[in-house]
Amino acid sequence: MIQRIDKIISSQMNISRNDARSLIKGGSVSCDGSVVTDSAFKADAEKSEITVNGKPLFYKEHIYIMMNKPEGVVSATNDPKTKTVIDIVPESMKRKNLFPAGRLDKDTVGFMLITDDGDFAHRILSPSKHVEKTYVAHLRDVLSGEGKEILEKGAVLSDGTECMDARVRIIDDEGKKVEITIREGKYHQIKRMFASVGNEVVFLKRIAMGGLPLDDSLLPGECREISAEELEMIEKGKLCCDNAQ
Ligand code: URA
Repeated sequence: MIQRIDKIISSQMNISRNDARSLIKGGSVSCDGSVVTDSAFKADAEKSEITVNGKPLFYKEHIYIMMNKPEGVVSATNDPKTKTVIDIVPESMKRKNLFPAGRLDKDTVGFMLITDDGDFAHRILSPSKHVEKTYVAHLRDVLSGEGKEILEKGAVLSDGTECMDARVRIIDDEGKKVEITIREGKYHQIKRMFASVGNEVVFLKRIAMGGLPLDDSLLPGECREISAEELEMIEKGKLCCDNAQ
Protein backbone atom coordinates (compact mmCIF):
# COMPACT_ATOMS: atom_id res chain seq x y z
CA MET A 1 0.00 0.00 0.00
CA ILE A 2 1.41 3.39 -1.00
CA GLN A 3 1.35 5.87 1.87
CA ARG A 4 3.04 9.04 3.01
CA ILE A 5 6.35 8.37 4.70
CA ASP A 6 5.36 10.33 7.84
CA LYS A 7 2.29 8.11 8.21
CA ILE A 8 4.37 4.95 7.84
CA ILE A 9 6.94 6.11 10.40
CA SER A 10 4.28 7.27 12.84
CA SER A 11 2.25 4.04 12.68
CA GLN A 12 5.18 1.64 12.75
CA MET A 13 7.10 3.42 15.51
CA ASN A 14 3.98 4.36 17.48
CA ILE A 15 4.98 8.02 17.56
CA SER A 16 3.00 11.11 16.63
CA ARG A 17 2.95 12.43 13.09
CA ASN A 18 4.82 15.51 14.34
CA ASP A 19 7.58 13.39 15.84
CA ALA A 20 7.76 11.38 12.62
CA ARG A 21 8.11 14.62 10.63
CA SER A 22 10.93 15.79 12.90
CA LEU A 23 12.82 12.55 12.27
CA ILE A 24 12.29 12.95 8.53
CA LYS A 25 13.33 16.62 8.48
CA GLY A 26 16.39 15.76 10.57
CA GLY A 27 17.61 13.35 7.88
CA SER A 28 17.12 10.16 9.92
CA VAL A 29 14.89 8.42 7.41
CA SER A 30 15.94 6.70 4.20
CA CYS A 31 13.94 4.92 1.55
CA ASP A 32 15.70 2.43 -0.73
CA GLY A 33 19.07 3.93 0.11
CA SER A 34 18.23 7.65 -0.31
CA VAL A 35 17.61 10.04 2.55
CA VAL A 36 14.05 11.39 2.52
CA THR A 37 13.48 14.83 4.01
CA ASP A 38 10.04 15.52 2.57
CA SER A 39 7.29 14.19 4.86
CA ALA A 40 4.88 14.05 1.94
CA PHE A 41 7.12 11.58 0.09
CA LYS A 42 5.15 8.45 -0.75
CA ALA A 43 6.39 4.88 -0.48
CA ASP A 44 5.12 1.34 -0.60
CA ALA A 45 6.12 0.23 2.88
CA GLU A 46 5.77 -3.44 2.01
CA LYS A 47 8.12 -3.23 -0.96
CA SER A 48 10.59 -0.44 -0.09
CA GLU A 49 13.42 -0.67 2.38
CA ILE A 50 12.81 2.10 4.86
CA THR A 51 15.35 2.77 7.58
CA VAL A 52 15.36 5.07 10.58
CA ASN A 53 18.79 6.03 11.87
CA GLY A 54 20.16 3.17 9.79
CA LYS A 55 17.86 0.54 11.31
CA PRO A 56 15.38 -1.16 8.99
CA LEU A 57 11.72 -0.65 9.70
CA PHE A 58 10.02 -4.03 9.42
CA TYR A 59 6.66 -2.89 8.15
CA LYS A 60 3.55 -4.64 9.40
CA GLU A 61 0.13 -3.42 8.48
CA HIS A 62 -1.32 -4.88 11.67
CA ILE A 63 -0.08 -6.34 14.90
CA TYR A 64 -1.47 -9.41 16.68
CA ILE A 65 -0.46 -9.97 20.28
CA MET A 66 -0.92 -12.94 22.56
CA MET A 67 -1.06 -11.84 26.18
CA ASN A 68 -1.15 -14.08 29.22
CA LYS A 69 -3.66 -11.84 30.96
CA PRO A 70 -3.02 -11.53 34.67
CA GLU A 71 -5.74 -11.28 37.29
CA GLY A 72 -6.98 -7.78 38.17
CA VAL A 73 -6.73 -6.08 34.79
CA VAL A 74 -9.79 -5.43 32.68
CA SER A 75 -10.16 -6.38 29.03
CA ALA A 76 -10.95 -2.89 27.82
CA THR A 77 -9.10 -0.21 25.89
CA ASN A 78 -9.24 2.32 28.70
CA ASP A 79 -10.77 2.49 32.11
CA PRO A 80 -10.74 5.44 34.49
CA LYS A 81 -10.16 3.28 37.57
CA THR A 82 -8.55 -0.01 36.67
CA LYS A 83 -5.52 -1.03 34.64
CA THR A 84 -6.48 -2.41 31.26
CA VAL A 85 -4.84 -5.05 29.08
CA ILE A 86 -3.83 -2.24 26.70
CA ASP A 87 -2.07 -0.37 29.52
CA ILE A 88 0.22 -3.36 30.09
CA VAL A 89 1.18 -4.04 26.46
CA PRO A 90 4.97 -3.47 26.23
CA GLU A 91 6.04 -0.22 24.54
CA SER A 92 7.74 -2.14 21.73
CA MET A 93 4.37 -3.61 20.66
CA LYS A 94 2.23 -0.53 21.27
CA ARG A 95 0.35 0.85 18.31
CA LYS A 96 -2.46 3.30 17.94
CA ASN A 97 -5.91 1.66 17.88
CA LEU A 98 -4.97 -1.50 19.78
CA PHE A 99 -7.91 -3.23 21.39
CA PRO A 100 -8.65 -6.58 23.04
CA ALA A 101 -10.41 -8.97 20.66
CA GLY A 102 -13.00 -10.39 23.00
CA ARG A 103 -13.54 -10.23 26.73
CA LEU A 104 -12.20 -11.94 29.77
CA ASP A 105 -13.49 -11.11 33.24
CA LYS A 106 -11.23 -9.13 35.56
CA ASP A 107 -10.49 -12.28 37.57
CA THR A 108 -10.03 -14.55 34.52
CA VAL A 109 -6.47 -15.17 33.38
CA GLY A 110 -4.88 -16.52 30.23
CA PHE A 111 -5.01 -16.05 26.48
CA MET A 112 -6.05 -12.53 25.51
CA LEU A 113 -5.70 -11.55 21.88
CA ILE A 114 -4.87 -7.89 21.29
CA THR A 115 -4.75 -6.36 17.84
CA ASP A 116 -5.35 -3.28 15.72
CA ASP A 117 -7.02 -5.34 12.97
CA GLY A 118 -10.76 -4.81 13.26
CA ASP A 119 -11.60 -7.12 10.36
CA PHE A 120 -9.72 -10.05 11.86
CA ALA A 121 -11.27 -9.47 15.28
CA HIS A 122 -14.70 -9.32 13.73
CA ARG A 123 -14.11 -12.61 11.92
CA ILE A 124 -12.99 -14.53 14.98
CA LEU A 125 -15.59 -13.02 17.30
CA SER A 126 -18.55 -13.31 14.97
CA PRO A 127 -21.00 -15.80 16.54
CA SER A 128 -21.58 -17.40 13.14
CA LYS A 129 -17.89 -18.35 12.82
CA HIS A 130 -17.95 -20.51 15.98
CA VAL A 131 -14.26 -20.03 16.75
CA GLU A 132 -13.54 -22.27 19.72
CA LYS A 133 -12.34 -21.01 23.06
CA THR A 134 -10.87 -23.46 25.55
CA TYR A 135 -10.68 -22.85 29.28
CA VAL A 136 -9.47 -24.60 32.37
CA ALA A 137 -11.95 -24.13 35.19
CA HIS A 138 -11.36 -25.01 38.83
CA LEU A 139 -14.68 -25.76 40.50
CA ARG A 140 -16.00 -25.45 44.03
CA ASP A 141 -17.58 -28.92 43.83
CA VAL A 142 -16.89 -32.12 41.97
CA LEU A 143 -18.53 -32.05 38.53
CA SER A 144 -21.17 -34.76 38.51
CA GLY A 145 -21.64 -37.08 35.55
CA GLU A 146 -25.05 -35.55 35.03
CA GLY A 147 -23.68 -31.99 35.14
CA LYS A 148 -21.01 -32.92 32.59
CA GLU A 149 -23.60 -34.40 30.27
CA ILE A 150 -25.80 -31.29 30.49
CA LEU A 151 -22.85 -29.02 29.60
CA GLU A 152 -21.89 -31.32 26.74
CA LYS A 153 -25.39 -31.30 25.31
CA GLY A 154 -25.96 -27.55 25.78
CA ALA A 155 -26.62 -25.88 29.12
CA VAL A 156 -29.58 -23.60 29.72
CA LEU A 157 -28.53 -20.53 31.71
CA SER A 158 -30.59 -19.07 34.57
CA ASP A 159 -32.19 -16.49 32.26
CA GLY A 160 -33.24 -19.21 29.80
CA THR A 161 -30.38 -18.62 27.34
CA GLU A 162 -29.54 -21.85 25.56
CA CYS A 163 -25.88 -22.65 25.02
CA MET A 164 -24.44 -24.76 22.26
CA ASP A 165 -22.91 -28.11 23.08
CA ALA A 166 -19.49 -27.94 24.73
CA ARG A 167 -16.55 -30.33 25.00
CA VAL A 168 -15.84 -31.14 28.63
CA ARG A 169 -12.95 -33.13 30.04
CA ILE A 170 -12.17 -33.70 33.69
CA ILE A 171 -8.43 -33.23 34.16
CA ASP A 172 -7.80 -34.10 37.79
CA ASP A 173 -8.47 -37.15 39.93
CA GLU A 174 -10.85 -35.32 42.23
CA GLY A 175 -13.14 -34.09 39.44
CA LYS A 176 -12.89 -30.41 40.31
CA LYS A 177 -10.63 -29.33 37.45
CA VAL A 178 -12.16 -29.29 34.02
CA GLU A 179 -11.10 -28.36 30.50
CA ILE A 180 -14.04 -26.97 28.59
CA THR A 181 -14.30 -25.81 24.98
CA ILE A 182 -17.13 -23.59 23.78
CA ARG A 183 -17.93 -22.12 20.38
CA GLU A 184 -19.68 -18.93 21.52
CA GLY A 185 -18.88 -15.97 23.73
CA LYS A 186 -21.85 -15.08 25.87
CA TYR A 187 -21.35 -12.78 28.84
CA HIS A 188 -19.75 -14.71 31.76
CA GLN A 189 -20.57 -17.82 29.80
CA ILE A 190 -18.36 -20.39 31.53
CA LYS A 191 -19.25 -19.21 35.02
CA ARG A 192 -22.93 -19.20 34.15
CA MET A 193 -22.75 -22.63 32.52
CA PHE A 194 -21.30 -24.18 35.66
CA ALA A 195 -23.77 -22.23 37.82
CA SER A 196 -26.58 -23.75 35.74
CA VAL A 197 -25.54 -27.21 36.96
CA GLY A 198 -25.29 -26.08 40.58
CA ASN A 199 -21.53 -25.58 40.68
CA GLU A 200 -19.23 -22.55 40.91
CA VAL A 201 -16.06 -21.58 39.06
CA VAL A 202 -13.38 -20.53 41.54
CA PHE A 203 -10.57 -20.04 38.99
CA LEU A 204 -10.74 -19.59 35.24
CA LYS A 205 -7.99 -19.54 32.64
CA ARG A 206 -8.37 -19.39 28.88
CA ILE A 207 -5.80 -21.80 27.46
CA ALA A 208 -6.53 -21.63 23.72
CA MET A 209 -8.30 -19.73 20.97
CA GLY A 210 -9.26 -21.87 18.01
CA GLY A 211 -6.39 -24.29 17.51
CA LEU A 212 -3.76 -22.01 19.07
CA PRO A 213 -2.78 -22.79 22.65
CA LEU A 214 -1.55 -20.10 25.02
CA ASP A 215 2.25 -20.06 24.92
CA ASP A 216 3.10 -21.51 28.30
CA SER A 217 6.43 -19.68 28.40
CA LEU A 218 4.53 -16.40 28.89
CA LEU A 219 4.39 -15.36 32.52
CA PRO A 220 1.25 -13.53 33.71
CA GLY A 221 1.23 -10.10 32.06
CA GLU A 222 3.73 -11.05 29.34
CA CYS A 223 3.04 -10.73 25.62
CA ARG A 224 4.42 -11.95 22.37
CA GLU A 225 3.49 -11.41 18.75
CA ILE A 226 1.42 -14.00 16.91
CA SER A 227 2.70 -15.23 13.54
CA ALA A 228 0.66 -15.49 10.35
CA GLU A 229 0.51 -19.30 10.68
CA GLU A 230 -0.72 -18.97 14.23
CA LEU A 231 -3.44 -16.54 13.13
CA GLU A 232 -4.67 -19.26 10.77
CA MET A 233 -4.69 -21.68 13.69
CA ILE A 234 -6.95 -19.30 15.62
CA GLU A 235 -9.35 -18.79 12.78
CA LYS A 236 -9.46 -22.25 11.27
CA GLY A 237 -8.02 -24.64 13.82
CA LYS A 238 -9.33 -26.78 16.61
CA LEU A 239 -7.47 -27.74 19.72
CA CYS A 240 -6.68 -31.40 19.43
CA CYS A 241 -4.05 -32.05 22.06
CA ASP A 242 -3.80 -32.06 25.79
CA ASN A 243 -3.10 -28.48 26.79
CA ALA A 244 -4.47 -28.47 30.29
CA GLN A 245 -2.42 -26.46 32.77
N1 URA B 1 -16.56 -17.11 30.65
C1 URA B 1 -16.60 -16.48 31.84
O1 URA B 1 -17.44 -16.74 32.65
N2 URA B 1 -15.65 -15.56 32.08
C2 URA B 1 -14.66 -15.26 31.23
O2 URA B 1 -13.82 -14.42 31.53
C3 URA B 1 -14.62 -15.93 30.00
C4 URA B 1 -15.58 -16.85 29.73
